[in-house]
Amino acid sequence: MSDTMSRPMRFGSNSGQPLTRRDGLAKVTGTATFAADNHPRNLLYAVCLPATIARGRVAHLDVAAAEAHPGVSHVMTPQNRPPLQGDPSEKPTMFSFRIEVLQDDTVRYAGQPIAMVLGETIEAATEGARLLNPRYETMTPRIALDQNEPEALEPGALGRPADVEHGDMQTARNSAAQGIDVTYETAPQYHNAMETHAVVAQWDGDRLILDMPSQALVLSCAGYAHFFGIPAGNVTLRSPFLGGGFGSKAIPTGPQVLAILAARMTGRPVKLMLTRQQMFGPVGHRGATRQRLRLGTDDAAALSFIDHEGVSETSSFDDFLEPAANASQGLYAAQALRSTHRGVRLDVGTPSPMRAPGEASGSAALECAMDEMAEATGLDPLEFRLRNYAETEPGTGKPYSSKALRECYAEGARRFGWSRRPLAPRQMQDADGMLVGWGMGTALFPCPMFAADARATLRADGTALFETSAADMGQGAWTALAQIAADSLGLPIEKIEFRSGNSTLPDGGIAGGSGHTATAGSALDASGRDVIRQLGSMAAADPASPLHGADNATFQARDGRIEVEGDPARGEDLAAILHRAGLEQLEGQGSAFRKPEDAENRAMNAHGAVFAEVKIDPDLCQMRVTRLVGAFAAGRIINPRLAESQLMGGMIWGVSFALHEKAQHDPRTGRIMNADFAGYHIPVNADIRDLEVITIHEDDPYVNALGIKGVGEIGITGTVGAIANAIWHATGRRIRHFPIRIEDLL
Ligand code: MOS
Repeated sequence: MSDTMSRPMRFGSNSGQPLTRRDGLAKVTGTATFAADNHPRNLLYAVCLPATIARGRVAHLDVAAAEAHPGVSHVMTPQNRPPLQGDPSEKPTMFSFRIEVLQDDTVRYAGQPIAMVLGETIEAATEGARLLNPRYETMTPRIALDQNEPEALEPGALGRPADVEHGDMQTARNSAAQGIDVTYETAPQYHNAMETHAVVAQWDGDRLILDMPSQALVLSCAGYAHFFGIPAGNVTLRSPFLGGGFGSKAIPTGPQVLAILAARMTGRPVKLMLTRQQMFGPVGHRGATRQRLRLGTDDAAALSFIDHEGVSETSSFDDFLEPAANASQGLYAAQALRSTHRGVRLDVGTPSPMRAPGEASGSAALECAMDEMAEATGLDPLEFRLRNYAETEPGTGKPYSSKALRECYAEGARRFGWSRRPLAPRQMQDADGMLVGWGMGTALFPCPMFAADARATLRADGTALFETSAADMGQGAWTALAQIAADSLGLPIEKIEFRSGNSTLPDGGIAGGSGHTATAGSALDASGRDVIRQLGSMAAADPASPLHGADNATFQARDGRIEVEGDPARGEDLAAILHRAGLEQLEGQGSAFRKPEDAENRAMNAHGAVFAEVKIDPDLCQMRVTRLVGAFAAGRIINPRLAESQLMGGMIWGVSFALHEKAQHDPRTGRIMNADFAGYHIPVNADIRDLEVITIHEDDPYVNALGIKGVGEIGITGTVGAIANAIWHATGRRIRHFPIRIEDLL
């Protein structure tokens, strides 16, 4: 599928090999245990009743009718909900939201849980919830971005400051030869992992065991512990497998807290699994945005200014917003650059991080605006970007830790055949009479690293155990991380046992921000190297070892041995060193690490370029993305098969963003009318034709010792704009909102 699959690998290295998922067999044979597959004895089933209005209060619930159902054991409402020790409007961790847990009868968004019914069977609990038959006092909901005033909100965990400005905007504006002023809108999107949010909660005194999909196991324990007044160490969270997360499973949610509370109240294990419809509201989403972009260029088609104003929805009771204007802060050079975020409080659930939060929606608008600016200058869109992409970080002037963007542009364009593209729109038709258009976009995503720890244990039999609480959302982390672990000891991957997905293990950090492989991988690598360092010291000090007297700094782990670099004949088996020392096993510790001076002095991003072909029926206006080529430079690729799957998945989400996804609210009630997979459109196989991912080789010595960037989110960025630009190229029409639908072209 791409170059990396055939690129020769360093002998003896597990990293770089396109291994299949180690848990693939368990998943396809149904033996992998997801949270809701747990069935402890004496289980009660919990079902949420979601509000069907978006603003007002619950005036009546027919609790008696529900309680009269023979299979219903409890009905939890604001009237009888046991107290929580932690205030649900406080944020116990940096990844916490204010949650809705039946604290009063106020309805703040459609889909908010307004009661929870517990039953002996899922059917009884579901029927009990139906019998509650709520009546409401309703107020007019505010659902659209123009229904409230934009406010400057506190930057959240992901937000950069509300206002960023570099350079003299007024001078740049005055000196520009030409400019554009365009407004783009993006629709609300709801992340719908295949596995909906679930929990099986069991209490043992004041100890809590949670089977729950989590992108941040140890952090989540602290979040849940807060609400129940217990130490975080009293919570054990088990999350061996997730059926997707996309950001929505990093944060404690109201329904899950209620299920845990129900388990405490009843003294029985409680299981909750949201229905598909219940995913639309209480577990986060990507807020709608309206983005005004003003761009100007000088006589030489160099950008004079970029002014990106983003407005996004947030809830009436919390602050997270989609920080779309972030996208303009790292990509293109201009004399002056300004970006702002404002939030509009609406009667919707609180938005949350959702795969490429900010960058996805922001780059969609920015890449379209760049195309419009290119058109105004008369330049080819690729040529225009080549003249304007930033060589150093805009504003700060920091050098990039590595930047292979020019190679991404060149290789992507070559594979796509971009040089044959006519400049003007409406020039190409295929043999069937379809209008053909070609467009492109630049991709950018930061490469953060978070805190993480890992433990390596080398055993006397020459095998090793690696442990970190890391989460595998389905992306293949369990495989890629094991590859890194094996390399740190110089062992084949078959000799590695890798345990993760349990909060009692060393904290593997967050599977988010496209930083999981870099973060947990660095910790695992360091833990293995700690073992080698200890063994090396033992051997160097031992007259019986061939390594006696050698310098530990020259030792490398390879093929189950420690060898002197440059003198591989001088070495000794790991197991032999252990054996002579009389040790059954040896443990090493490691933490994720990025040199502070590198973090301080360099800008760090993954880069890419995406090229799209669309074909459009001139009569029916049906649109097809017939070809996508994405070239990405994302540091060292640990597993090309899995990395390319991630990049592809991101690009497919880009198709979804551009042409499919939109939560459609009923303006009268504020309800989402298409809260299921029949009405909420996502691409299916038939929507994805020819998709090619190219990974550009990149050595980045600064991001971390392993040179790993991230691949989970960057694929969306660039793709959305590329598709919209291709639609313009096919039709001559600029559609300035997403998703682009047939009716927009009629
Ligand atoms: Mo993500 S939105 O970093 O899980």
